[in-house]
Amino acid sequence: MDKIIIEGGRSLKGEVNISGAKNAALPILISSLLTDGWNTYTNVPNLRDIQSTKDLLLNLGARIETQSDTVQIDAGKVVNHEAAYDLVRKMRASILVLGPLVARLKKARVSLPGGCAIGARPINLHLKGLTRLGAKIELKHGYVEATADRLKGEEIYLDVSTVTGTENLMMAAVLAKGTTVLSNAAREPEVVALADVLNEMGADIKGAGTSIISIKGVSALHPVSVRIIPDRIEAGTFMVSAALTRGNVTLLGCEPNHLEAVIDKLRLCGAEVTVKDGRIQVKGKREIASIDVKTLPYPGFPTDMQAQFMVLMSVAKGFSMISETIFENRFIHVSELKRMGADIKISGNTAMITGVPSLSGAPVMATDLRASASLILAGLAAKGTTEINRVYHLDRGYENIENKFSLLGADIRRVKT
Ligand code: EPU
Repeated sequence: MDKIIIEGGRSLKGEVNISGAKNAALPILISSLLTDGWNTYTNVPNLRDIQSTKDLLLNLGARIETQSDTVQIDAGKVVNHEAAYDLVRKMRASILVLGPLVARLKKARVSLPGGCAIGARPINLHLKGLTRLGAKIELKHGYVEATADRLKGEEIYLDVSTVTGTENLMMAAVLAKGTTVLSNAAREPEVVALADVLNEMGADIKGAGTSIISIKGVSALHPVSVRIIPDRIEAGTFMVSAALTRGNVTLLGCEPNHLEAVIDKLRLCGAEVTVKDGRIQVKGKREIASIDVKTLPYPGFPTDMQAQFMVLMSVAKGFSMISETIFENRFIHVSELKRMGADIKISGNTAMITGVPSLSGAPVMATDLRASASLILAGLAAKGTTEINRVYHLDRGYENIENKFSLLGADIRRVKT
């Protein structure tokens, strides 16, 4: 497995292009299952999770053409309704095929995703919603088996505002008879991006971006040509890198409106953040102020930025508290950061961090995607050499991360082992 080696301590300077959003691309590529004919998606990031999604769709019978960041998918000949364990275990988001398969083929058999490093991550709300829409759901031998005649629009209350749950149910409801109303729906930009694409395909969805989404079913959808929105988490990771290394980094091709919480927190830490013409410039200051952070559903501070912010707080002046309210086990980076000299104590879902003057490079192990990103950031700021093992996780969600950091002046390289 590859390793990433970083000689830390360099201040990052320059411009970086932000890639298309992984978490928008996954459901959007999967939405091709709802149509017959070639869909074209541009700005698709080249990531392991995107490859897993393509493998999943190919296995269902879709045809796929890829040329640089353009992916074309024709799901017209999809006949297989099963997403097998081997595909789902590589990527939990595979569960997103459940809604569209039931809507289009009237049946689906999808391996139940297990828990993952960051939490139990149940899918009970996906199943509750599909049942409300009239699907018959059975759990057998580790698989969800769903069958339905034409789904029927219903009112569905989501106990927790789940992102992929909202996406799955939107994709199930677009071809249902009648109107579905999702209450306490997720408001994440990726949900809005999917709703926009579905509307472009001929769906009738209103309210995406609010907590009440109404979906009036239509009889058929048509293929589309769409561009994937920028990745707000990749953008946020580069913004933190600028503040952390006291650098001066400008992000190109990002969407500042999706980053309000992150911009606000960085300013409170003392970084100078300028937003102009779709660009975000972050200048780090010598002294980083300690602030408290609580992760919340959008538009609150994203859980996917929690680990990266913890690195920043590790070298801030004073004491800060970071509370994780979305996932029950998302502090797995803490033990590795402590090995690099961070002073962090955990109590329940809160990390208490006392800033230290600097971190020191060490061999560390990546355990999930955003934890891996935090270790890269820690390595960039640390004195000495950091060796990050198991970069497999990083490749799931960050495109060319070492090249992008290298172009900003970091001493970072990948070693094939
Ligand atoms: N939940 C339930 N029941 C459900 C679904 C969710 O209790 O049926 C709970 C979860 O256990 C969690 C909370 O609801 O406590 C929110 O989870 P959500 O369903 O929103 O998470 P997700 O849809 O599985 C997506 C992203 C994650 C991101 C979260 C939160 C994708 C493919 N994944 O996951 O991204 O952290 O929303 O914003 O969109 C990542 O990119 O590294 C990543 C983990």
